[in-house]
Amino acid sequence: MGLLFGICIYLLFGSTLAVDRGNFKTCDQSAFCKRQRAMKPGQSPYRALLDTLELSDSRLTLQLINDNNKVHLLLELYRLQGNITRVKINELKPLKPRYEVPDVLVGDPSTQPLSVLSKDDNGMVLSLGAESQRLIVSARPFRLDIMEGPELLLSLNSRGLLAFEHLRLRKDTQADPEGAEVKENTDGEEQQDEEKKEEDGGKDNEDGLWEETFKSHTDSKPNGPTSISLDFSLPGVEHVYGIPEHADSLKLKTTDAGDPYRLYNLDVFQYELYNPMALYGSVPVMLAHNAQRTMGIFWLNAAETWVDISSNTAGKTVFGKMLDFVQGSSETPQTDVRWISESGIIDVFIMLGPKPSDVFTQYASLTGTQAFPPQAALAYHQCRWNYNDQDDVKAVDQGFDEHDIPYDFIWLDIEHTDGKRYFTWDPHKFSQPKEMLQNIMDKRRKMVTIVDPHIKIDSGYKIHNEISAKNFYVKNKDGRDYEGWCWPGNAGYPDFTNPEMRAWWASMFAYDQYEGTLENLYTWNDMNEPSVFNGPEVSMYKDAVHGNWEHRDVHNLYGFYVQMATAEGLVQRSGGTERPFVLTRSVFAGSQRFGAVWTGDNAAEWDHLKISIPMCLSLSLVGLSFCGADVGGFFKNPSTELLVRWYQTGAYQPFFRAHAHLDTTRREPWLFGPENTALMRDVVRQRYALLPYWYQQFYHAYKSGQPVMRPLWVEYPKDAATFTIDDEFLIGRDLLVHPVTEEGARGVTAYLPGTDEVWYDVHTFQKHSGAQNLYIPVTMSSIPVFQRGGSIIPRKVRVRRSSACMENDPYTLYVALSPEGIAEGELYIDDGHTFDFQTKKQFIHRSLTFAHNSLTSRNLCPECKFFTKSWIEKVFILGAKKPNKVVLQTDGQATAVEFEFDASLALLTLRKPGMNAGADWTVLLQ
Ligand code: NOJ
Repeated sequence: MGLLFGICIYLLFGSTLAVDRGNFKTCDQSAFCKRQRAMKPGQSPYRALLDTLELSDSRLTLQLINDNNKVHLLLELYRLQGNITRVKINELKPLKPRYEVPDVLVGDPSTQPLSVLSKDDNGMVLSLGAESQRLIVSARPFRLDIMEGPELLLSLNSRGLLAFEHLRLRKDTQADPEGAEVKENTDGEEQQDEEKKEEDGGKDNEDGLWEETFKSHTDSKPNGPTSISLDFSLPGVEHVYGIPEHADSLKLKTTDAGDPYRLYNLDVFQYELYNPMALYGSVPVMLAHNAQRTMGIFWLNAAETWVDISSNTAGKTVFGKMLDFVQGSSETPQTDVRWISESGIIDVFIMLGPKPSDVFTQYASLTGTQAFPPQAALAYHQCRWNYNDQDDVKAVDQGFDEHDIPYDFIWLDIEHTDGKRYFTWDPHKFSQPKEMLQNIMDKRRKMVTIVDPHIKIDSGYKIHNEISAKNFYVKNKDGRDYEGWCWPGNAGYPDFTNPEMRAWWASMFAYDQYEGTLENLYTWNDMNEPSVFNGPEVSMYKDAVHGNWEHRDVHNLYGFYVQMATAEGLVQRSGGTERPFVLTRSVFAGSQRFGAVWTGDNAAEWDHLKISIPMCLSLSLVGLSFCGADVGGFFKNPSTELLVRWYQTGAYQPFFRAHAHLDTTRREPWLFGPENTALMRDVVRQRYALLPYWYQQFYHAYKSGQPVMRPLWVEYPKDAATFTIDDEFLIGRDLLVHPVTEEGARGVTAYLPGTDEVWYDVHTFQKHSGAQNLYIPVTMSSIPVFQRGGSIIPRKVRVRRSSACMENDPYTLYVALSPEGIAEGELYIDDGHTFDFQTKKQFIHRSLTFAHNSLTSRNLCPECKFFTKSWIEKVFILGAKKPNKVVLQTDGQATAVEFEFDASLALLTLRKPGMNAGADWTVLLQ
């Protein structure tokens, strides 16, 4: 095996187009998952020792004992600000520390006082402060129940699946630890027979406790079994979402009949759709929703994790449920969830909502918000593996101009390097990188190069020599540098968990280190699961070592840290002034703070186009708003129809990048005949026109953690018809998109939500009422998009060759009136690329309101300073009545405004009102 193996996988699977399932473990093949899953619901062996209770102001601790083996655990409970409860469980006295995930939380969460309301031999009741919320701790067996008033919101360990494999010494190879360990863990209590059995299991490595082999790879387990598990019951809940990354529907499925959802960052070639297999990223956050409430469970653990979901209503049809109801035989619907991780501790944040927006705020308070990207990053990106040389780059760049299609970023994949040595350029194909970058910069465009985390082992390569000299590589279990195969052949993997390593990595992006770079060059981190072609499951050995920890403990964090260090590097090279842009394939909770994510190696197939919607929605729900899928599909060649439909879909998703495999035929948007070029041009231009709105949505995601791309239920949480929709979505609150994702489609049926809403087709301005399934006939140019009545959306309709060229262009406002004749919106403007909006308050933020026949712009940040040359060029008022006169009041002056009224569409158009976009003004319809 070796490089050839890796390349073969890419190229061969590229043509067969099916995942080799045998390369990846099932739960049965993952020893800890199998052991834990074999445990069935029943009476928990854990008991709370109430007399060990300690309560400081905001921290409650209590010991738990496993009555089978007498091992003591320490339970910690915290009430956190913003309606969050944190539950931590660790061994009371572990043989050595167990891994607690660092760097993911943005700080020490602020706590609030906890108080004991009552206590007796059976347990105790704690006040959770807000809204008559209580936490009931039952002692025997141990369980926790969170109540609000009379309502049970969520229970922990109610099915008795809390399991904590305590650290132990191996008996067949090491001195008998009996005395020491038992004394330490049991405070003198007698060891029981069950424990004997459990400990003895270690002797012959039954159940893969001390060693595990998968295919040709053996995982030595120096710490033995360390897994943990806990169950959660959600009464009244039938819909759960999140725990990306999986190529599956938005609503998660029950897992009783198959494998649990797996969270283990892996480079899965030709991933299969609609199954729970692991993919490149893991965000261990689940949202539970019903018409009354939304809650979230954040399981802070970076080890391999499996999530089981079961439901008492699974498989019942709506009719079946109604029949149950009529016959009085219905039980309350309930979803039960069980989390299993290979190592670490139980550290879980229960976010109690109650609204979807509250859960987003709560989660953002823990892990931070979406990085506010440079505005250009929200525009269109042109990528392929590979643009071959500088002339190719030039030709593609010119192609866009010739065909009048805007683009902002052109991307270079691995072939641009000198022999897959990142931070270098191929001396023949890219001999003048600065000149190339300057040419692009002259057109106000940018470039991205790929920088992967596998480093070619080559004594002539500066990056390798420095990492090696500084001892920054991940180690083998025997202490030597770990080596694996990836694109460059034999490669080392820097230990990104080490802050010194990250600081050094960041310094490599300085202009004098990464030679040939200019400030319009940004970065792409790929293969950061990490991908190791000859490693177990195409990744790193779990017994590899990162400082004090095994790879097992930190695996799902590797990609998070790579992107963190890279983003830091881009900030530093600008002296802290410029916003970075880094795309990553692998993510964890908190990755939103560092940039964008894409859904990896999809295929040019209709189902892959469809799945891009739920995949990005699932990532958006857990903080990662800046998501996209390879437009056109990575593997295989798309039909022209698929390519056009993919552009139309991608143009309305947050990260909009075309990308293609090395082996595919070229597919720049002008290669499919003038008619199709026109279709693709048109939709790319729609994206550019809408950039002010996208930018505003990202500003909000950055400020408040609300997702940019939203499932409908987030805005219509009481409307059960929205709970399973994943073929359409909202951008912010005000735009609803139902892309055409069926081959040969003649029409689509879009659900327009909201009994009190009206929706305007953005292309025809036709008005439709809410709470209906609307059939929309489509042609190849159709992209069903609707603006919510009651909203105001800004666009810049004079599209130019890049977003930067449109900086000073005027705005057109689309005022879509609600049935009550009102509308609200905003205008956010800054320089588009620096941190000055943050550090110097250099931005314009205005609220736009239409009510009582007048449209007003009001300053939302009077202390902010920013000047824009942009003015308001046109205003469309949708759903309007014909006025006699239109008057603009600004700067104490009143001027008449030219207008037109289309009675058939109830569309009022104000021509050239001409006010500055940063000014105070009112337009009166008289
Ligand atoms: C795998 C990535 O997912 C893909 O986008 C990229 O083109 C190849 N690696 C080569 O770098």
